[in-house]
Amino acid sequence: VPGFVSQARGLAPERIIRLEEDRVVCLDQRRLPDAEVDLECRSAADVAAAIRALAVRGAPLIGVAAAYGYALAAARGEDLAEAARELGATRPTAVNLAWALREMRDSGSDPAPLAERARAIHRDEVARCRAMAEHALTFFDPGSRPLTHCNTGGLATGGAGTALGAIVLAWERGLVDTVLVDETRPVLQGARLTAWELHGAGVPFALIADAAAPSLIARREATHVFVGADRIAANGDTANKVGTYPLALAAAGTGVPFVVVAPSTSVDLATSEGADIPIEERPADEVSERYEARNPAFDVTPAHLITAIVTEAGVSRAPFPQSLREAAA
Ligand code: MRU
Repeated sequence: VPGFVSQARGLAPERIIRLEEDRVVCLDQRRLPDAEVDLECRSAADVAAAIRALAVRGAPLIGVAAAYGYALAAARGEDLAEAARELGATRPTAVNLAWALREMRDSGSDPAPLAERARAIHRDEVARCRAMAEHALTFFDPGSRPLTHCNTGGLATGGAGTALGAIVLAWERGLVDTVLVDETRPVLQGARLTAWELHGAGVPFALIADAAAPSLIARREATHVFVGADRIAANGDTANKVGTYPLALAAAGTGVPFVVVAPSTSVDLATSEGADIPIEERPADEVSERYEARNPAFDVTPAHLITAIVTEAGVSRAPFPQSLREAAA
């Protein structure tokens, strides 16, 4: 697709996910970093299974995958209402999923325009990534040492990334010394995926155990915390991968900027505050195969702990109800 360039290991967006005539092909993120293996989805149900199993993941990429799944359903003559129901039921927290399916439902039922709409959603996410990264540069100074959580790069967006896209661009501009990367328990999106992307891009980084982050922030070994978002409520409360909230507490306690980088497709003005965001509880065996376990996949960082939210429209600051409304307009 013209204009597609990603910083992740030279990963082109269509390498991360693409729609072909009779299938959706995505890089199977469960196999990374050990193997670069494609997963072929031949129905909307296959795409739904891939999203649920985290073969494709990350809020913007989940939206793109659902759009491609819907377009594939149209090409195969599947029942579109059933396809939307199945894709929409996969993961509850990232609002990009519902947004993308709404866009597709509003685009009729003919296969060709639906395929074009899905590809446009993907192209637009790529463009949003580029704009967010440029806006986020304002937070970096030479020698910056950002700390990040989960994976917010090409693999999470289909483009250059949200928080990680900003970090990589800042490094390319000579503004980053090194990056601290949370492992991100329990499925290690940081240790497997962010590390793979940063290594591929040649950016210096160090992995840390999630529990090490607050004290490293308190010692100012991190100059900033940059994270993505799965859903941002109208008041600025932000749901992101579990373990984000402790980072925000540590950053606020130390006076380190805590910056959320997310496209407007992750902003949900219809949800007034964080308490109303559905938090996915994933299978317990991702935490322990032996004992009883709980596995909430996301947490909510209250708006008052957030320094700024960077979208493709620019940098939003408190009061977020106003600034986010303007950004999402
Ligand atoms: O469960 P995941 O891996 O889909 O969670 C992803 C995250 O929480 C990311 O940090 C988030 O989607 C922001 S990324 C672009």
